[in-house]
Amino acid sequence: MVVCIPGLESIVGGELDALGVVHRPAGTGALAARMTDRQLYLANAALGCATRVLVDAGSFTARSFPALERGLADLDLGPWWTPEVPLRLRVTSRRSKLVHTGAVEERVRRVLGASDPAPGPRPTDPDGRAGAPGIPVHPGDGDRGPEQLLVVRIERDVVSVRVDSSGAPLHHRGWRGPQAKAPLRETIARAALVAAGWRPGVALVDPFGGSGTIGIEAARWAAGIAPGADRSFAFADWPSFAPGTWASVHAALGGGPDAGTGDTAAAPIVVRDRDAGAVEAARENATRAGVGDRVEIDEGPISTLRPPEGSAPGLLVTNPPWGGRVRGGGDLRDVYARLGHVVRDRFPGWGMAVLTGDDRLAGATGLRPRRVALRARAGAHPIGLHVWRPDGDGHT
Ligand SMILES: C[S@@+](CC[C@H](N)C(=O)[O-])C[C@H]1O[C@@H](n2cnc3c(N)ncnc32)[C@H](O)[C@@H]1O
Repeated sequence: MVVCIPGLESIVGGELDALGVVHRPAGTGALAARMTDRQLYLANAALGCATRVLVDAGSFTARSFPALERGLADLDLGPWWTPEVPLRLRVTSRRSKLVHTGAVEERVRRVLGASDPAPGPRPTDPDGRAGAPGIPVHPGDGDRGPEQLLVVRIERDVVSVRVDSSGAPLHHRGWRGPQAKAPLRETIARAALVAAGWRPGVALVDPFGGSGTIGIEAARWAAGIAPGADRSFAFADWPSFAPGTWASVHAALGGGPDAGTGDTAAAPIVVRDRDAGAVEAARENATRAGVGDRVEIDEGPISTLRPPEGSAPGLLVTNPPWGGRVRGGGDLRDVYARLGHVVRDRFPGWGMAVLTGDDRLAGATGLRPRRVALRARAGAHPIGLHVWRPDGDGHT
């Protein structure tokens, strides 16, 4: 089962196609797939838009606690887990007799003989972010050792038990250091690039770049660096882990579908922001991500933006501020209107994709017609990717 942010299912499906993994829809934010060990390792390291990959450990029907305990006792978690490893549980129940998830969790722990993860703050992972609740850090990193996430879902009295193979969610690429305000998840940034139609070899400009997520994802893609090339995964601590298979997967990792080569890396990738702190954070992130020499990172407001010198027309893919007034007191509609003017006047032949949580602000660019290429969620907020094609909208 491949889990993703709701709205990204078809993009993740396309990534699985490119990896040769057969899949089918499995509801909101999920795709079901049968994978060999090799494919499982590859999916974790190479999927750019998925959140995690879970392995089915078994399912059974339970309308009572004794039935739940019998079903759990019959499970064989041996390939994935041994009782010395603390278990982190995520239990959900819908339209079922067993509604008390706390009581279900207590039975799971007792029947499996599982210990709790150590209390207290979670260690930070190499991205510098504390593990979110229910999410282990990269196994083996930090001072608490590995822990294993088990996802127990009860739906219409069918209990499905799934073992997490990823560890920290897959948007943790392992390179993020300093934060700017409101950084995008790397998975959303990658999905925006895919949905905007960007590919290595196309010039890219992000004029509201913040900590650089969109440009860095693009530069790693263009450089042929797989999204998960620099991090570790929960599966590496499983009893069934096959180190030789992982070594050969890791050695063969490319940048994913349409990965760039030396030639395509020549197209400029520009990240810009008016905030000096954001620019500094983006530069450090780009260096940590191994693409410091592939992304041009400049300080400046949208009003002074120009296309990179000598570049063929490409794409602006950007995530301007939304959801309040900008620092300095101006109205956000003015910022979007300015963006629209700059693109119309100075970027002939370029397309643009704007990721925002407010459709009206996208309209404030004044560019027509626009198409919504993606709807997803950024944390609790619904967001849309508004796309303008240079040949269809008359802004050129
Ligand atoms: C939503 S954040 C972008 C976050 C970014 N995608 C990331 O992942 O870190 C919007 C950014 O726009 C910048 N910004 C706001 N007004 C601007 C303007 N007029 N010109 C250029 N940048 C601006 C802010 O400094 C902020 O970093």
